[in-house]
Amino acid sequence: MKVTSEIAAIRQQVREWRAAGKTVAFVPTMGNLHKGHISLVTESLKHADHVVASIFVNPMQFAAHEDLDTYPKTLSADLEQLSAAGTELVFTPTSEQMYPNGAENHTKVTVPEDAIGLCGESSSRPGFFTGVATIVLKLFNIVQPDIACFGRKDYQQLIIIKTMVDELALPIRIIGVDTYREQSGLAMSSRNNYLSKDEREQAAEIKQILDASIARVQAGEAHKAVLDDAIKSMAKAGFNTDYIIIRNANTMQPVTPSDDELVILVAAFLGTTRLIDNQYFTV
Ligand code: PAF
Repeated sequence: MKVTSEIAAIRQQVREWRAAGKTVAFVPTMGNLHKGHISLVTESLKHADHVVASIFVNPMQFAAHEDLDTYPKTLSADLEQLSAAGTELVFTPTSEQMYPNGAENHTKVTVPEDAIGLCGESSSRPGFFTGVATIVLKLFNIVQPDIACFGRKDYQQLIIIKTMVDELALPIRIIGVDTYREQSGLAMSSRNNYLSKDEREQAAEIKQILDASIARVQAGEAHKAVLDDAIKSMAKAGFNTDYIIIRNANTMQPVTPSDDELVILVAAFLGTTRLIDNQYFTV
């Protein structure tokens, strides 16, 4: 497996693969990899001949009070896992390479965060999706993959990237990959490392609360009553809920009576750790 921080080296390798008639998949990451990330590589290999991954902790998607400086860096373990999963090329740029004039002075991709409004503009992480879309578009332009895999765990991110690819007419197929869960039901996340053993057990209750809420909605109960109870259950389990909401699974817009594909999404703090999860369902 080749590891490089040079854009030219990435382009050269991808050009060679393409000249040989091969297809290329891309898995962007911020490192600190777990089995969820590796499942993206595994899925990529079902759709393309070669997999390129990137490891870059993107400062543009962190707010001032967030964990950019303390974000865990585990490069050698990450590379081992990527290589074992079949990744052949890894892009590991520095912040200076990606944002030579600083992230704040860089050209940005503005995404309609207001239209989604959960982890976006009107919620607790303003500018977050602009940071994500900007780096993802830049990485797409560097790697120029045929397909790219993103986890459904970051559901809003997946929808925003699909929308960006569609609206900016990028020739890349975006594939959503199911959330990888621990046996307890806890969605795998780099941020789980911040949790104590007890908190990990508490965190597993998120999935149970989502599943119970879905069962009630499918049985015909009003969304508001179900979500009010879900917030109470979250509080009882020790969470401070940022949001728990049901949306149209394809557009992320508020649900209309004709919608039959829905998603329930939650963001909640356990101590100082912010966890997110979601579950797609039909009615
Ligand atoms: O999901 C992530 O890890 C990040 O948001 C991404 C897509 C790598 C962009 O920095």
